[in-house]
Amino acid sequence: MNKNKAKEVVEILKEALPYIQKFASKICVVKFGGAAMTINKVKEEFAKDIALMRQVGIHVIVVHGGGPQIDRALKEVNIEKKFINGLRVTDKDSMNIVAKVLSDEINQELSEMINSFGGITININKDSEKILLTEKISSQIDLGYVGQIKNVDTNFLINALQSNYIPVIAPLGFNENNEIFNINADDVACSIAASISAEKLILMTDQEGVLNDNGELLTNLDVAEVKKLIKKEIISGGMLPKVNACITALGGGVKKTHIIDGRVEHAVLLELFTNTGIGTLVNK
Ligand SMILES: Nc1ncnc2c1ncn2[C@@H]1O[C@H](COP(=O)(O)OP(=O)(O)OP(=O)(O)O)[C@@H](O)[C@H]1O
Ligand SMILES: [Mg+2]
Repeated sequence: MNKNKAKEVVEILKEALPYIQKFASKICVVKFGGAAMTINKVKEEFAKDIALMRQVGIHVIVVHGGGPQIDRALKEVNIEKKFINGLRVTDKDSMNIVAKVLSDEINQELSEMINSFGGITININKDSEKILLTEKISSQIDLGYVGQIKNVDTNFLINALQSNYIPVIAPLGFNENNEIFNINADDVACSIAASISAEKLILMTDQEGVLNDNGELLTNLDVAEVKKLIKKEIISGGMLPKVNACITALGGGVKKTHIIDGRVEHAVLLELFTNTGIGTLVNK
């Protein structure tokens, strides 16, 4: 390593130290979006970051999406995708495919990757322990097997974290009759973060963060500003469940919520451990 590079590394570590100290033993919920997950290099760097966070003492919970991968699997069997307000309309046939892609492909792969960098994960998917009690979402238009969370088994999560596991959670839940539901992954991350009083909720997506009508990044937003942007339809589609998740999480006691660019390598570390951070910070 040359002298300049070594100096740079020392500077980085110096900047990171107060944050590492601040977040040690705190809970941080990170949602990794489907779009960013399709870039292999990004996925690998993300897995590395998660293992590093645990290594420096942060209790991290990973929730993943699966949009593009699910779209692809549905297309293969000629099922057309349909979204209402950012939520995927899910009939019985689609539900089986959604559950399979999320559990057998994405959940497994992400978990294996984190483990390969020295983390120890515990998988929550269609075949695991059921920790998300779910009910069919109430909406004017029937969305099919789309659920909302009624209860999170926080004891399970706290025990897992205390045993140094990294929970890797697929956005699937079950109702009292053991029927499976597809839940928006931003909603899952938000419910978990609120139920466990997380320090931070970080939602990673395929945009720089929340953008204004000129496509420019909004670095700081409060709840009132978010509501205005929704009203003006500047925030729409898949960004809706994300900002709503931030608002609900803040109301539920989560200290800070962030929407960041998952396409940027090491996005989580930049957000956590540098002075400036990246993306959009949503505050009360
Ligand atoms: N104001 C806005 N700023 C940024 N993105 C916006 C805005 N309004 C709508 N969007 C849309 O929201 C999308 C992000 O949500 P989307 O659900 O597609 O991805 P994701 O949640 O990251 O992944 P997944 O749903 O697969 O987990 C963006 O790609 C963009 O098209
Ligand atoms: Mg989404």
